This record gives sequence, structure tokens and C-alpha cells, in this order.
Amino acid sequence: MNIGFIGLGIMGSRMAGHLLNSEHTLIVHNRTKDKATDLIANGATWADTPAEVAQDADILITMLAHPEAVEATALCDSGFLGVLGDGKLWIDSSTVNPSFSRKMAEQATAHNVRFLDAPVAGSKNQAQDGVLRFIIGGEADDVEEAKPLFEIMGSGTVHVGAHGMGTSLKLVVNYLLASAMASFAEGMALGESLGVSQGMLLNVLVGGPVVPPFMAGKKAKLESGDYDPEFPLQWMQKDVQLATQTAYETAVPMPLANATKELYQQAIRAGHGESDFSAIYDYMTGK
Ligand SMILES: NC(=O)c1ccc[n+]([C@@H]2O[C@H](COP(=O)([O-])OP(=O)(O)OC[C@H]3O[C@@H](n4cnc5c(N)ncnc54)[C@H](OP(=O)(O)O)[C@@H]3O)[C@@H](O)[C@H]2O)c1
Repeated sequence: MNIGFIGLGIMGSRMAGHLLNSEHTLIVHNRTKDKATDLIANGATWADTPAEVAQDADILITMLAHPEAVEATALCDSGFLGVLGDGKLWIDSSTVNPSFSRKMAEQATAHNVRFLDAPVAGSKNQAQDGVLRFIIGGEADDVEEAKPLFEIMGSGTVHVGAHGMGTSLKLVVNYLLASAMASFAEGMALGESLGVSQGMLLNVLVGGPVVPPFMAGKKAKLESGDYDPEFPLQWMQKDVQLATQTAYETAVPMPLANATKELYQQAIRAGHGESDFSAIYDYMTGK
């Protein structure tokens, strides 16, 4: 099968790499061509535009930063949606908001394309190891058809419901990650201001009952101050923003999410946007 893949950032490059190592043929495009160099060297076909990816793709996967990037790639003059057609399948694994996923599903239908929103749980290391979990919204038959590809890139699928339900659950997950990381950073700032050492705090808290398990994977970053991004802070801010936007649409008050999103925005303005989101700790402790 010819698989089209658009969006070769931290996550997409690794997901595409697994597809390239499978029996499928891979056609890739990324706004910045440099990021496709390794994939091309290992046998992927480069396409100059998203539309060119769609010309030969049987299934097309997008893994892009945010809704604006997805919409532009799908629907701009050289977008893929007008070319894919023929009842083919578009899988959007980007983290976007549910109403946007539903809008893309409608656009796909209007272009005779089937659609799945299939964001992922897991980060850079899980993408590298092929153990991402796909959280999916869309038709059950389409999920079944795509399952072999999800199994190549990951190690599990959850079919949540109709279009937009995958991104619904994904936003809940990321809001919880964002707020837990921020409140942990705030607690650390308090502890350190009282003279408890960073080492003492991390050793007592991480792995204990009051801190979520994911924090264990961030401990080394906090200790070393090396925030090489697994999940860029700017995209975490984007996800909390999308959660609050969605809460507005469903009339759900999210006072903590609104405070959290502003905190991450302040950290972006202080220069932490491209660092891992755990750099919120440095922002909170003034390091
Ligand atoms: N990293 C994680 O841990 C993680 C985990 C789960 C989900 N996600 C989600 O996965 C998606 C990708 O994240 P990532 O970590 O791989 O981020 P990334 O490394 O920053 O990659 C972002 C991708 O989007 C492209 N892009 C950005 N703006 C664009 C635009 N205006 N037009 C066209 N392309 C554009 C980038 O192209 P360029 O290369 O040209 O910049 C790149 O391919 C995001 O939705 C993120 O929230 C990330």
C-alpha cells in the first residue's frame, strides 16, 4: 500500500520511520524539507506539496502542530484534500480540538474522503519505540481498515466513538498532564523557597503517591536543566488553549485550565516555548 505522511516533526518523523520499515511504500512531505532527509535516504519518496502526496497515496496520515497547520495543509491551493478523493482514508493524528476534527470530517466527506481523528498518547520515546496508543474517533469500519498501520506505529488503539471523540479524550489527557506538571512546578518552587533542596524534593515526591507516574520521566530534565523537547511547551499551551476553547463550546467552566494556559503562555514569552513542557519548572522557580 502507498502511505502518504505529512508532518515530520518530533512525532511524525518517528511514526513515518516505522511505516518505512514495514512492507508499505512511503510518500512524505513536510513544510521544512530538511526534516525528511533521513527518511528519503532510507527509501521514502519526497513530494513537493501536500497535493502531490495525495496523488499516489492510498491512505494519508497527518501529524501537524495545530488546527491551522492541518487546515492549511488539507485545503490550501496545493492542499491534499481536493486530490485524495476516491473514498480514500485520511487519518489526522495531530492534537486538535473536537469541533475542528468534526469540521475536517465534513470537509473530507465533501471531497469523497473518509476521515479518522486519531491523536496519540505517548511522546517522543514512545513514538521512537513504536508503542504509541491511538485514541480514535470515526467509523468502526475505517478504524478496522487502519488498524494494521496503527499497529506498525503503536501498540494499542482505543475507538472512543464518532468523529471528534478521539480528540475529545486526547484533550482531557493533555489538560491533566499540563495542570499536573504546572502544579508540581509550583509545589517545587514553594519547597525550594523554604530551603528544602531540589534533590530532597525530587527524591521524596517522584515515585510517591502524590505525584503522577509520568513525572518520573521528567525527573532527569529537572535535575540537569536540559529541556531538549520530547513534547514542546508551546504545543502543551496550545492543547490547554484548545481545551478551554472546547469548554466554551460546551459551556463547561474550567477555571484551573484557564489559569494553567496563561501560565504556559507566560513561560513561552519568557523563552521556554520550544523547550520540553517540563521547563515550566524552570519558569516557576525562576531558574
Ligand atoms: N511531542 C509529543 O510528545 C506529542 C505527543 C502527542 C501528541 N503530539 C502532537 O503531535 C503534533 C506534532 O507534534 P510534534 O511534537 O511532532 O511537534 P513538532 O516537532 O513541532 O512538529 C510540528 C509539525 O507541524 C508542522 N507545522 C507547523 N506549523 C505548520 C504550518 N503552519 N504549516 C504546515 N506545517 C506546519 C511542522 O513543520 P516544520 O518542520 O516545517 O516546522 C512539523 O512537521 C502536535 O499536534 C502535538 O500536539 C505531540
